Amino acid sequence: MSIYQRIKIVCGDITKIECDCIVNAANSSLLGGGGVDGAIHAAAGPQLLEECITLNGCRTGESKITKGYRLPAKWVIHTVGPVYRGRGDEAELLASCYRSALDLAKEYGIKSIAFPAISTGVYQYPLEEATDVAVAVVAKWMQNHADYEIEVIFCGFQNHVCGVYQRAIGTKMSEEKTMKKIASFTVNHDVLTKGMYISRIDGDVVTYDIRMKLPNGGDYLQMSAAHTLEHLFATYARNSRFSEGVIYVGPMGCRTGFYLLLRDTISYADAIELVKESMAFARDFEGEIPGNKKAECGNYLDHDLAGAKAIGAEMAEVLQNWQVYDLKYKE
Ligand code: APR
Repeated sequence: MSIYQRIKIVCGDITKIECDCIVNAANSSLLGGGGVDGAIHAAAGPQLLEECITLNGCRTGESKITKGYRLPAKWVIHTVGPVYRGRGDEAELLASCYRSALDLAKEYGIKSIAFPAISTGVYQYPLEEATDVAVAVVAKWMQNHADYEIEVIFCGFQNHVCGVYQRAIGTKMSEEKTMKKIASFTVNHDVLTKGMYISRIDGDVVTYDIRMKLPNGGDYLQMSAAHTLEHLFATYARNSRFSEGVIYVGPMGCRTGFYLLLRDTISYADAIELVKESMAFARDFEGEIPGNKKAECGNYLDHDLAGAKAIGAEMAEVLQNWQVYDLKYKE
């Protein structure tokens, strides 16, 4: 079942929702305010403020928990969203609100939690952007904690807010479905062209096939050139700006290309950029290793550098205009 099917959207007043925990879009004092903050304090009663006073405030992006008192929800997690000023750090701070609230919910064994549209009121965060952040970070958290069953509710106070949540989740679900379909493609070697394809998606690991020779074509990579190219490819990838997400670079058994395994934190478009840059690095290689001096090549450069440069040049050419939709194996 898709993660997105475990996310619910409820339209209305969050103080009325019967779930284990509701999240408050508070301010750093935690002493109440307007908006959803005011509504939650009014519905929970004065004991909520009494407990909040003992918490000594909360920093933006962080979360603290109290009881729910007169609310139907047993707990309230207070989080402080960023005030939107277009400085560029707001998305990470907003994501941190959802992550820290879910971490706290897991710590307290909470099995259902309702979020308001944090920061989209007084704090002026544009609703669509804030909703994209919320849906992406909640889905990622649920993926990373697949062993912890929790129902997440997005509560929209106005109908149009619910519509924005609906669209954001719908988009993510169809993207997930498309990419799963691509990954489950069987490879029709007769229509295959040289290039880069997604062959598997396992959780957050995407396997790319970098195909340089056509299978069954009888024309395979020269072993020595392939060795040198493999290590130039790996050296560039591990020293690139994408290095955090690089899991593995290795040969295809039938000497027709390479496998590249990346975390899905690297977008499909960036994955194409990484391979294009790696092939250009091999094509232009004159001995300089970017970043660290620990070259992946070892003595493989002696094997067949000229052959490796030639294949690198050809693949850089093939991938020059490669697009995300090209990653899909043709039926
Ligand atoms: N139930 C659900 N959602 C609500 C409710 C409610 N009862 N009341 C308001 N909302 C929605 C708003 O419509 C908005 O979409 O919550 C979202 C967040 O808006 P705010 O409450 O203004 O919160 P935020 O933008 O994060 O600003 C926080 O406002 O209330 C003060 O003390 C709070 O200083 C803090 C600031």
